[in-house]
Amino acid sequence: MLMGRLFTVSLIGVLLLHSCTVSLALSSSNFTDLSALLAFKSEIKIDPNNILGSNWTETENFCNWVGVSCSRRRQRVTALSLRNMGLQGTISPHVGNLSFLVKFDLYNNSFHGHLIPEIGHLRRLVVLNMHRNLMEGAIPTSLHQCQKLEVISLSTNKFTGVIPNWLSSLPSLHTLFLGRNNFSGTIPASLGNNSKLQWLGLERNNLHGSIPNEIENLQNLKGIDLHANNLTALIPLAIFNISSLQILSLSQNHLSGTLPSSFGLWLPNLEQLYLGINYFSGNIPLYISNCSQLKYIQLPLNQFSGPVPTSLGQLEHLQELDLEINQLTSQSDSLELSFLTSLTRCRSLEKLYISGNPLNGLLPVSIGNLSSSLQDFVAYSCQIKGPIPKEIGSLRNLNQLDLSENNMTGSIPSTIKGMKSLQRLYLHGNQLEQSIPREICVLSNLGEMELQSNRLSGSIPSCIGNLSHLLILLLNSNSLSLSIPPSLWNLENLLSLNLSSNSLGGSLHGNMRVLKMLQSIDLSRNKFSGNLPTILGGFQSLSSLNLSHNSFWGPIPESFRELITLDYMDLSHNNISGSIPKSMVALSHLQYLNLSFNNLSGEIPSEGPFANFTAASFVENEALCGLPIFQVPPCGSHSNQESKAKFILKFILPAIALMSIAIAVIVIILIKYQKSNMETPNTINVLPSVEHRMISYQELRHATNDFSEDNILGVGSFGSVFKGVLFDGTTVAVKLLNLHLEGAFKSFEAECKVLARVRHRNLVRVISSCSNPELRAVVLQYMPNGSLEKWLYSHNYCLNLFQRVSIMVDVALALEYLHHGQSEPVVHCDLKPSNVLLDDDMVAHVGDFGIAKILVEKKSTTQTKTLGTLGYIAPGKHLDLGKIIFPRLLSQILYHIDHIRIHKNLIIYA
Ligand SMILES: *[C@@H]1O[C@H](CO)[C@@H](O)[C@H](O)[C@H]1NC(C)=O
Ligand SMILES: *[C@@H]1O[C@H](CO)[C@@H](O)[C@H](O)[C@H]1NC(C)=O
Ligand SMILES: *[C@@H]1O[C@H](CO)[C@@H](O)[C@H](O)[C@H]1NC(C)=O
Ligand SMILES: *[C@@H]1O[C@H](CO)[C@@H](O)[C@H](O)[C@H]1NC(C)=O
Ligand SMILES: *[C@@H]1O[C@H](CO)[C@@H](O)[C@H](O)[C@H]1NC(C)=O
Ligand SMILES: *[C@@H]1O[C@H](CO)[C@@H](O)[C@H](O)[C@H]1NC(C)=O
Ligand SMILES: *[C@@H]1O[C@H](CO)[C@@H](O)[C@H](O)[C@H]1NC(C)=O
Ligand SMILES: *[C@@H]1O[C@H](CO)[C@@H](O)[C@H](O)[C@H]1NC(C)=O
Repeated sequence: MLMGRLFTVSLIGVLLLHSCTVSLALSSSNFTDLSALLAFKSEIKIDPNNILGSNWTETENFCNWVGVSCSRRRQRVTALSLRNMGLQGTISPHVGNLSFLVKFDLYNNSFHGHLIPEIGHLRRLVVLNMHRNLMEGAIPTSLHQCQKLEVISLSTNKFTGVIPNWLSSLPSLHTLFLGRNNFSGTIPASLGNNSKLQWLGLERNNLHGSIPNEIENLQNLKGIDLHANNLTALIPLAIFNISSLQILSLSQNHLSGTLPSSFGLWLPNLEQLYLGINYFSGNIPLYISNCSQLKYIQLPLNQFSGPVPTSLGQLEHLQELDLEINQLTSQSDSLELSFLTSLTRCRSLEKLYISGNPLNGLLPVSIGNLSSSLQDFVAYSCQIKGPIPKEIGSLRNLNQLDLSENNMTGSIPSTIKGMKSLQRLYLHGNQLEQSIPREICVLSNLGEMELQSNRLSGSIPSCIGNLSHLLILLLNSNSLSLSIPPSLWNLENLLSLNLSSNSLGGSLHGNMRVLKMLQSIDLSRNKFSGNLPTILGGFQSLSSLNLSHNSFWGPIPESFRELITLDYMDLSHNNISGSIPKSMVALSHLQYLNLSFNNLSGEIPSEGPFANFTAASFVENEALCGLPIFQVPPCGSHSNQESKAKFILKFILPAIALMSIAIAVIVIILIKYQKSNMETPNTINVLPSVEHRMISYQELRHATNDFSEDNILGVGSFGSVFKGVLFDGTTVAVKLLNLHLEGAFKSFEAECKVLARVRHRNLVRVISSCSNPELRAVVLQYMPNGSLEKWLYSHNYCLNLFQRVSIMVDVALALEYLHHGQSEPVVHCDLKPSNVLLDDDMVAHVGDFGIAKILVEKKSTTQTKTLGTLGYIAPGKHLDLGKIIFPRLLSQILYHIDHIRIHKNLIIYA
C-alpha cells in the first residue's frame, strides 16, 4: 500500500516534469494530427462527463482542446493527457500518426483492448502512462522503436505475456511500472542493462524464477517492488549493494537465503524494507542499523532466527517494526527482552509486532519509555514471562495491547489507567492473578477486553458499566466470584459476553437489562441460581445462549420464543422444571439445543427445529414424553387430521396450478408479508453463530492478498470492496475506504454507526471493522451472487418471476425494519440496485450505509432535506411502509404482469 503510494507520487512527479517538454516540429502538416485526434475520439464509446463531446469540436483549434498540448511554432500535438475521465473504449491505431507526441497519458480510465502496435511509430515518445485501465494482451514489440522512452507505466491493467527482453534496449528508461497485471515468465536478466532505471515495479504478477543477479548493475535504482509473485531461489546479495535504494519490497514470494551479515554501508538510503511471507532465514544482521533512514521494517512469516538485534534502537526514524512469526529470540545474556529497551530510542515508533517468536524473557521496566507515539504493541505467543511492569501505563497513546498466550504472572497493574487511548486489551491465556483493577473502568475507549484463561479472582469491578464502548467482554476461565455487578447490564453496545467457568453466583433476576445488540452470552459453569431470567426474551439479537452447568430452577420462560435469531441454546445441567414451551417451535434457526440433566416433564415438541434434534438433547430429565426418536415414552394418541388435510391438498393443488401466475404472486407476497408483520419487530432471521471478532490489519492484508486488484468486487463512492478469505476460512467482503477522498471518514462513521445498531436478515451483516490512521475498513458478509444491478442490467444474468418478487419483498422488509424496527429510524439515502446484494440463496440484502442517517426524533424534517437518491422516500411523518408503499408496489407488479421487470424506480420506491 505504502509502497504503491510512494510509487504513484514519484510517478506524478516524473509526469509533471515532462508535461513542460515541448518538441519542435519539423513538418508543417497539422492536418494529420487533427484527423488522428478525431479518429482517437471516435473509438471512445463512453465519455461519462461528455468532456470530449463538448470540448473537442472542430470549430476550435485542436491545440486548445482539453488534454491536448501542441508545439508552439508548428502546432503539432506533443502531449495527449486525459487522466481520471472515466473514458471507455479502445485506443485507435491512428494515434500512431501523432508523430510529434512526447507524452501519452491515459491514467485511470477504462480503455480496453490491446496496446496498438502503431505506438511504435511515436519515435519522440518519452512518457507512456496507461496505469489503471483495462488493457489486455502483450506489450507490442514495436514499442522498442520508441528509443526516447523514459517512463513506461502499464500497471493495474490486464496485460499478459512476458516481460520483454528488448526493454533493455531503451537507453533512457528510468521508470518501469508493470505491476498488478498478469505477466508471466521470468524477470529478464537483460534489465540489468537499463542503467538509468530508478523505479521498477513488477508486483502482483505471475512471475517465477529467481531475481537476476544482473540487478546489481542498476546503481540508480531507488525503488524495487516485486511483491506477490512466485519468485524462488536465493535473494541476490548484490541487491544490498545498490546504495541508492529507498524501497525494497519482496514480500509474498518463495524467496530464501540469508541477509548479508556485513556489507560496508549496507543501504544508506533505505526507508522501507518489506520481506514478509518468504523463506528467509539466518540472523537479522546487526548492520541493519546502518540503513539509518529506515522507517518501515516488515519481516513477518519467515524463518529468521537468533536474537533481535539491539542495534535496531539506532534507527531513529523507525515507525513500524514487524517481526511476527519467526524464530527470533532475545539476547541470551539477559533475562529481559533487552531489545525492547533499545527500541525506546526510536522516538517515532508507532507499531511494534513481535508475536510468534520464542523470545522467552521478561518485559523490561523500560517498556514505559517506548515512544509516546506507540499505537500497537502486539506480542502474543512469544513466551514472555514474569509480571506486566507497572510502567506500561505510560504508553498513553497505545491503541492495542496484546500480550495474550504468554506466561505472564502477577496482577494486572492499576497503572493501566494511564493508557487512555486503549481500544483493545488482550491479556488472555496467561497466569495473571488477583482481582481486575477498578482503574480499568477509566479506559473509556475500550472496545474489546479479553482477560479469559487466567487466574483472576475477586469480583468483576462494579464500575464496569462505565466502559460504554465495550463490544466484547471475555472473562471466562478465571476464578471470579460474587455476583455480576448490575452496571454490566448498562453496556448496551456489547456483542459478546463470556463469563463461563468462574465461581459467579446469585440470581440474575432484578438487575438485568435488555441488551439489544448482544449476540452471544455464555454464563455456563458458574453458581448462578434462581429462575431463568424472563427478560432474556428481549435480547433480540441473541444467536447463542449458554446457561448450562449452573443451579437455575423453575420453568423455561415463555419469552424465549422471542429469541428467533437463536441458533445455539444450552440449558443443560441445571434444575429446570416444568414442560418445554410449545412456542419454542418458533425458534426456526435453532440448530443446537441441549436441555439434558434437568427436571423437565411433559411432551417434547416435534415440529420446527425439534424435528432435527436427537435424544441427546433431552436425556436425564424427569418425565419427558414424545416421539420414539427422542427415546422417551409416547405421550398418548395423536389425531391424524393433519395428514388428512395434506391428502386433500394434494388434490386441490393441481387446480391451484391452473390459476394465473398473478394470483400466485399475490399469495406469495401476502404470506411473506403477513408473516413478517406478525414477527415485527423481530424479522431478524438466520444469523450464523460467528462471533464479532477483531481482525487485524495484517490479517486483512493477508485475506485480500494485500488488497490485490484481482480481489476487487466493486468500486463505490468512497473506496473499493475486496473479496477476502480470513485465517479461519470465512469468505468476506472487505470495504476499504479511500481516505484521500473528502467525506470518506464521515462515510465510514455513518456506516459503522448504522451497522452497529441494525441486524436483519435482509441487511448486509458486518463481521468486523479495522481502523487505524492510514486505513478504515469494514468487513462484511460476502455475497456470492453480487449486486442486483448485475442481475438486472447485464445480459448473462436473468431473474425469474419468483426471484424478482422475492427480491422486492426482501428489500421492502429491510426498509421496513430500518424505518420502523427500532427506536430511531435509519434512513438509507442511497438505495439503488447496485446496493442490493444477493447471497447464495438469492436472498436480497441491502448494503452500503455510507451516507445513511439515523433520524433523531423531531429532527426528521430538517434531516430529510439532505437526503441523496431521488425517488426514495424516507420515513418522514409516519409514512408507513406496510400501508402505503407496499400496496403500491404490489399494484405495479400486477399491472406489468406479462412482462414483469424490476425497474430502477420500482426498487427504489420499495
Ligand atoms: C495515419 O497514417 C496512415 C498511413 O500513413 C494513413 O493510412 C491513415 O489514413 C492515417 N490516419 C489518419 C486518421 O489520418
Ligand atoms: C475546451 O477546454 C479548454 C481548456 O479547458 C478551454 O480553454 C476551451 O475553451 C474549451 N473549448 C470549448 C469549445 O469548450
Ligand atoms: C496548422 O498550422 C498552421 C501553420 O502551419 C497554423 O496557422 C494553423 O493554426 C494550424 N491549424 C491547426 C488546426 O492547428
Ligand atoms: C479515477 O477516476 C475517477 C473518475 O473517473 C475518480 O473518481 C477516481 O477517484 C480516480 N481514481 C484514482 C485512484 O485516481
Ligand atoms: C493469468 O494468465 C493465466 C495464463 O497465463 C491464466 O490462466 C489466468 O486465468 C490469468 N489470470 C487472470 C486473473 O486473468
Ligand atoms: C509457484 O512455484 C512453485 C514451484 O516453483 C509451484 O509449485 C507453484 O504452483 C507456483 N505457484 C503459482 C501460483 O504459480
Ligand atoms: C508457558 O506456558 C505453557 C502453557 O501455557 C507451558 O506449556 C510452558 O511450560 C510454560 N513455559 C514456561 C517457561 O513457564
Ligand atoms: C434439519 O437439518 C437439515 C440439514 O441440516 C436442514 O436442511 C433442515 O432445514 C433442518 N430442519 C429443520 C426443521 O430445522
